Amino acid sequence: MKRILLVSFVVMSYSACHIIAQNESGQAKLVIQSDLGKYTICRHIYGHFSEHLGHCIYGGYWVGENSSIPNTRGIRNDVVAALKEIGIPNLRWPGGCFADEYHWRDGIGPRDTRPKMINTHWGGVTEDNSFGTHEFMDLCEQLGTEPYICGNVGSGSVEEMSKWVEYLTFDGVSPMADLRRENGRDKAWKVQYWAVGNENWGCGGHMTPDYYADQYRRYATFCRNYGENKLLKVAGGANSEDYNWTEVLMKRIPAWQMWGLSLHYYTTDWWNKGPATGFSEKQYFETLERCLNIPKAIDKHITIMDKYDPEKKVALVVDEWGTWFNVEPGTNPGFLFQQNTLRDAFVAGIHLNEFNKRCDRVKMANIAQTINVLQALIFTQDDKMMLTPTYHVFNLYKVHHDALLLPSDLTCGDYELDGKKLPELNASASKDKNGFIHVSVVNINPKKDASLTIDLRGIAVKEVTGKIITAPEITAMNSFDSPDAVVPADYNKAKIGKDGIKVQIPAKSIIVLELK
Ligand code: AHR
Repeated sequence: MKRILLVSFVVMSYSACHIIAQNESGQAKLVIQSDLGKYTICRHIYGHFSEHLGHCIYGGYWVGENSSIPNTRGIRNDVVAALKEIGIPNLRWPGGCFADEYHWRDGIGPRDTRPKMINTHWGGVTEDNSFGTHEFMDLCEQLGTEPYICGNVGSGSVEEMSKWVEYLTFDGVSPMADLRRENGRDKAWKVQYWAVGNENWGCGGHMTPDYYADQYRRYATFCRNYGENKLLKVAGGANSEDYNWTEVLMKRIPAWQMWGLSLHYYTTDWWNKGPATGFSEKQYFETLERCLNIPKAIDKHITIMDKYDPEKKVALVVDEWGTWFNVEPGTNPGFLFQQNTLRDAFVAGIHLNEFNKRCDRVKMANIAQTINVLQALIFTQDDKMMLTPTYHVFNLYKVHHDALLLPSDLTCGDYELDGKKLPELNASASKDKNGFIHVSVVNINPKKDASLTIDLRGIAVKEVTGKIITAPEITAMNSFDSPDAVVPADYNKAKIGKDGIKVQIPAKSIIVLELK
């Protein structure tokens, strides 16, 4: 049995806080300090990412006003309702790699006069720009979500980015504000989150960190705050374990010019991605092993940030994360369409727990991508829409939005395969504004239930309710024929005892408890 320190007020490196003791009792234990919470879990950790890629935008959100699929000004009603249900806090757009070849002026004005372009990154398909700035902002308004726009550094100019900000957010008389009015929108929009380029170490221009840092300072200077609108600018951060990129950007960009620094980290083996469905237990184990390594890498990035910014003024923004498997056989390789199983649900649950626990630095994160691409929450097919296991995790975990993180300390057993071991449980806890405590626990062990005792300190609990996501197989998934194969169910097996709350966590399951 291993004991794992889950939450600390002082940020420690993962290696320092990993295994700190042994528990021989065979029982898993979660100690929660209900009166020692200090940091709020920003709801923007539960953010999303939608790119002009495959069927994410076209067919996913956008069907056009003349479609027989129920829509509001061209945007699917079913998708909007599903995303509102999970309280989608922000939406990153238009890319990804697409952002650094997107020229926003091609996506405004009458749709039939908008120029077409080649989407060179994603399948070489024709992009007709029918979904542009006004459509995206309308989508955000329908969803009640905050836009997170990624500007073009790679193939754009400072002037182009600066004018986009003016077009969106300036309410007075100016060439761009007037153009916006000509295009049917009088009032300026509110846009806070603004990324200055995407993956500028790769598809966004293959820049060196020093060169990008200088470019960032230049572009960011001309992204102005107009009136009440205050931009929260995000610098394009590192790929996975590229700590030098983080080091250089933190050293060269002053905190006053950078609200956030991003990080992209996918759960994948780039050389052998493997199938999204029908995987072996070995492949399952390896995916979870990769996923559980990500918090270690995040902590290394945070350690570098702490060196330059001990007051934690700069947010870490993990604006692309999730599983990346082989595309489904027979689908366009450039569309990155993959199915979504119980394994994906566990990857989501673990990421969200780990982000929660680092909420003093991680203020925002965006799963890639919302609809029909990579670790999607929603699939659409013509007029049909379906929710994936990952969607259901976001739905259960929404109780953590803007809640107070509660420090917790987990002791648990291992999931073993072929002589390798992973801690079988992963958890986080928070207290909401009503004083209700929520505990989310993932049991990745496909063969063994875990007997967990929750030792809740500082409060007496009278009632425990819960929801569970599980299925007979780790490969279980939803499909258009069987959309409810993996859905949440009520969980009533938690018992309040003298020495804590006893919870039997079934093998391969996620449980979210509410303690009152
Ligand atoms: O999400 C797919 C792609 O992955 C994004 O466009 C890019 O930023 C990343 O490499």
